[in-house]
Amino acid sequence: MNVIRVQASSPYEVRIGTSLLPLVGEQLRGLTAPCKVCLLTDDTVNALYAPTVENSLRQAGFQVHKYVIPHGEASKNGHVYLALLNFLADNGFSRTDMMAALGGGVVGDLCGFTAATFLRGIRYIQLPTTILAMVDSSVGGKTAIDLPAGKNLCGAFWQPALVLCSTDTADTLPADVFSDGMAEVIKYGMIRDRALFAHLLEKGLHFDREYVISRCVEIKRDIVEADEFDNGERQLLNFGHTVAHGIEKLSDYSIPHGRAVAMGMALMVKSCVKAGLFPASQAPSLMQVLEAFSLPADVPFSPAELAAAMINDKKRRGGEITLVLPRQIGLAVLQPTPIHACEGLLEGGYSA
Ligand code: NAD
Ligand code: GLY
Repeated sequence: MNVIRVQASSPYEVRIGTSLLPLVGEQLRGLTAPCKVCLLTDDTVNALYAPTVENSLRQAGFQVHKYVIPHGEASKNGHVYLALLNFLADNGFSRTDMMAALGGGVVGDLCGFTAATFLRGIRYIQLPTTILAMVDSSVGGKTAIDLPAGKNLCGAFWQPALVLCSTDTADTLPADVFSDGMAEVIKYGMIRDRALFAHLLEKGLHFDREYVISRCVEIKRDIVEADEFDNGERQLLNFGHTVAHGIEKLSDYSIPHGRAVAMGMALMVKSCVKAGLFPASQAPSLMQVLEAFSLPADVPFSPAELAAAMINDKKRRGGEITLVLPRQIGLAVLQPTPIHACEGLLEGGYSA
């Protein structure tokens, strides 16, 4: 088992290995006396993994109250959130009790936000079961629910007490969910780690899962420790995402997030090659890695359409948007860019 310590405002460990779910109870006992645990999961993950986690928790002396939501982004809303708060209150949860998120980023974000706000904050742990949740959403303490006006518009920073990442759970992921998560993995290689990127390029689908997930978590840990509340360096994690948000919006959310991120990264690389900011010789490697993980590179919208969609990005500050510009594989920089200059920059990506 690999242990990565996150020195955030509230420190915790990310423990990464295989077959960790039967050990959840024992691992949690190292952290707390027996208490009530609200195990939040979705219907798909419930059928696959909840019995193992429930047994493990009960055997270690915890009282388990399970709450199952329908799978998918539509569950990350205010109605489900309020129902969950009422479930905690009706079952007599106190500040010494905790929650556990078993699932992907939807379950993790909803669980984290509920934990952040119930009784002004109770502890929670993350048991991520998608690649995206393992390398991104379970670490760093961003929690949220969606509003009708947009995704993640209501949230809080609330760090988990423990992240237990059982990498074998990725074996049961549908191929498209697996690929979508790999877009985030490729992102870490692009912004911070040339060796990680080279490993993905060389091994393709046969990559070393524990090494790759651990490296991603270490990179995220470093960035979160430097900028926990997302005022600067943490924005590097948005590489490809500003364009992706535009693509998701323009496609009426029919293009999944991971695929949109892949297109966004490819477009930014092509644009930066055209602008002389990224070595042309390195661009084909990105396209090759994306293809190896069944991720697209071509954007089905025009620069004008994309730029217009980006104007409304929630991360816009005044007349500027901070773009993440790739400078070489393993290195990216933040570049505040006037909104009116975005279209011109993106045009480079279409003609390269
Ligand atoms: P998800 O949670 O919807 O999971 C995707 C699908 O995979 C679901 O249908 C789920 O039931 C299924 N699934 C999960 N684990 C499985 C397994 N092991 N085997 C089989 N099926 C499994 O989606 P996601 O991609 O994990 O997360 C997306 C969410 O994460 C979004 O809401 C996004 O906003 C959020 N997010 C949050 C952060 C953060 O820092 N908090 C970062 C990135 C994304
Ligand atoms: N997923 C981006 C972040 O955690 O900041």
